Amino acid sequence: MPASLPYQFDDAHQHITITDPRLPQPWINYLSNGTLHAFVSQAGGGMAWWKSPLKNRITRYRQYNLPLDSPGFYVYLKGADGIVWSPTWRPVETPLDSWQAQHQPGLSRFIARKGSVEATLELFIAPGENVVVWDLQLRNLGELSIALDVFGYVEFCLLDWKQDTDWACYVKHNLQTAFDREANAVTYLYRHFHFNPQLADCPLVYFGASEPVTSFDGDRDVFMGNYRDERAPVAVERGACSDSEMLCGDPCGALHCRLEIPAGGLKQMQFFLGGEPEAIVEWPQALVGVRASMARLRQPGKTASLRAELAQWWDRHLGVLRAELPDPDIARQISLWSPMQSVHTGRYSRSVSQHAAGVRTLGFRDTCQDMIAIAYRDPRWASEVFRYLISQQYEDGHAPHQCNPVEKLPAESRIHIDNPLWLPMLAHAILAETGDFTLLDESVAWLAEDSISAVGSATIWQHLLKITEFMEANLGSHGVPLTHNGDWNDSIGKFSKKGRGESLFAAQQYVLILGLLGELATLRGETATAARLATLKEKQAAAILACAWDGAWWRRAFDDDGVAIGSSACEYGKIWLNTQSWAVLAGVGSPAQNLQAMDSVAELLDTGLCGITKLYPGFKSFPDAPDPYSGYSPGCGENGAIFCHANTWAIMAEAMLGRADKAWHYYRQLVPHLALQNVGLERYKAEPYAYVSNIIGPENPKYGWANVTQVTGTAAWMDIAATQYLLGIRPELGGLRLVPLLPTGWDGFTATRIFRGCTLAIDVRCPELAGGTVSEISVNGISHPGNLIPASALHVGAVIHITAILA
Ligand code: GLC
Repeated sequence: MPASLPYQFDDAHQHITITDPRLPQPWINYLSNGTLHAFVSQAGGGMAWWKSPLKNRITRYRQYNLPLDSPGFYVYLKGADGIVWSPTWRPVETPLDSWQAQHQPGLSRFIARKGSVEATLELFIAPGENVVVWDLQLRNLGELSIALDVFGYVEFCLLDWKQDTDWACYVKHNLQTAFDREANAVTYLYRHFHFNPQLADCPLVYFGASEPVTSFDGDRDVFMGNYRDERAPVAVERGACSDSEMLCGDPCGALHCRLEIPAGGLKQMQFFLGGEPEAIVEWPQALVGVRASMARLRQPGKTASLRAELAQWWDRHLGVLRAELPDPDIARQISLWSPMQSVHTGRYSRSVSQHAAGVRTLGFRDTCQDMIAIAYRDPRWASEVFRYLISQQYEDGHAPHQCNPVEKLPAESRIHIDNPLWLPMLAHAILAETGDFTLLDESVAWLAEDSISAVGSATIWQHLLKITEFMEANLGSHGVPLTHNGDWNDSIGKFSKKGRGESLFAAQQYVLILGLLGELATLRGETATAARLATLKEKQAAAILACAWDGAWWRRAFDDDGVAIGSSACEYGKIWLNTQSWAVLAGVGSPAQNLQAMDSVAELLDTGLCGITKLYPGFKSFPDAPDPYSGYSPGCGENGAIFCHANTWAIMAEAMLGRADKAWHYYRQLVPHLALQNVGLERYKAEPYAYVSNIIGPENPKYGWANVTQVTGTAAWMDIAATQYLLGIRPELGGLRLVPLLPTGWDGFTATRIFRGCTLAIDVRCPELAGGTVSEISVNGISHPGNLIPASALHVGAVIHITAILA
């Protein structure tokens, strides 16, 4: 790794160390227990929210504004010399004698030294307590005892973010901050509820300290002073807050504690940013709750035990699959950063990051896909979300585009043809992991036409079969699915404004799910259903073959007038990535066609630098074209960017074609740490540990800029592509299949996989260093036929040693 890069990975301790806070954009980490959430950057910027960043945003973060990456979780330290500094470097930006930030699963740590004081600040949220713990350790490295003024500061947001952006001038009259001596905390009550009864669930927010509070502020403007900002609050300059409380205005939590630290001594203290539920309904009760929480949190040893609970949660989650690989850059991505990001997208879908405002709630298709990567590590969580998603399916079989489990707003009912198709894929992933098919017999209501209430009910199996009826009722003139407002690709709806456009991608996806449902029907002994599904599958595959082949690749769609999109006859968008990869995934087309199609991808779409572009050439936009495909400039977003999500399916397709080196090439060029090095930090900009949604493509001068970071479908599918198609540890309904695909030069790898209650110790050997397929498997030293470890061989609690030889 080039010495000049401002970060290093510490694989043994499972963290990244960032050594310069001045990055091209914030590099963030998520802290969460599933109820209280936060993200924090390497410079301490970030925000916290309770359940929903739309309805209960606890602190502010100005996503689109300068100063960049602010505000956040700020600590100000002021010694006798009057110098003010922060362990996070920001907001004061005082030059420090040493500084580093570390991100690891669920926790961020900042270690800084100024003069004789070394500060370590850890921020985390533990599973059992709805609180952001700020654990601050201050070491006096000098020979004299010192007095330090320590200020902790957060800016509160109007909890309802729509109100914050639209109506803050009025709604700020409905707020209250007060200092509660017993809790040793500033409390913040948001009382703007009479328009919006859903806010009944909003929390009483508090910001408290473990140490006695010397002074405090609940009024941001009093803490800051006129025309100042977080970089130089007047209270910190003065060395004391004003004890402000407020009944209207802009709220904050600012706590000042004065600490004495003897020479060589260590002082540890905490700030706690938390919430107690149902503040509006039962305000006095919520205050009692805050006092009780603060008393519990201040007990000796509590912070350490919370940190240990957090570590246990992650150990269990990451322990489901750990791999030792010859290449450390790949190993850490597969075993740590990728599953970690899958948890984040599992929680936030496409909703909230340092760039995304958090207004998007749950994308239906997005969440189905995100949960596929949760299904193999935490099938219980995935099943819970799946039950919710299937309860959002309408009686005619279609599924909404977006839904809002927390906000309880009506779902968005517009038809994007692909939305229901992701349900069977998620169901299949869950069942393959658990082997417990009773899920299919559970009864779930349908979503009523008002898009919010429930109506009737059917078993999950009936729900899934209903999708086929919906698809059959929505076929176009070529016999393939109508696009309606879009397929996976939102903007493809542009070609279907009159409702006659057809999607070949959705057709391929439909073939794939007919296969999955057929497999389930056979397992259930429903032979007539299995036969019906097989017939539909053949019919759909035949419809594709009759109209989709363009000569050297698969076409993408038909527009309202039946004109092929994604054809060599088109001026723009001649070739699109997804129908090439999905032909392989769905098994439609001859091997020769599919090899040719993927060769065309390599030739026309692969940048060789940082991924495969989504289509080529990019469509010209306004003002060049009177009716452009989209407003995206060429090389951006849906119009010829490296759309990373779509790259994942190309990796899987090449793996299925058995072309190991190609599959690994496509995988490696997206591994963020490698992509960043290929492109260069100042151009790439994004985190070296988290996938992005897209990287600007070669047709644009900003080629290589990795943007829309963190919350992206890339996360889940890179996780699946790596673990199930490259390492080839693939759960199936009947057991665990081993289909490892090694790049040239690897002599093997080992992995531990917890599967259906067993620990599988997997040793894959490739003595020829030349990839190949499994030629021999032994289970506990005994030769095993085929490459499926059947469910019958898996006994709960057993440790099974599997050796696979590739040749
Ligand atoms: C964005 C959307 C996702 C969609 C994709 C392609 O990532 O969040 O829902 O599938 O774009 O259009």
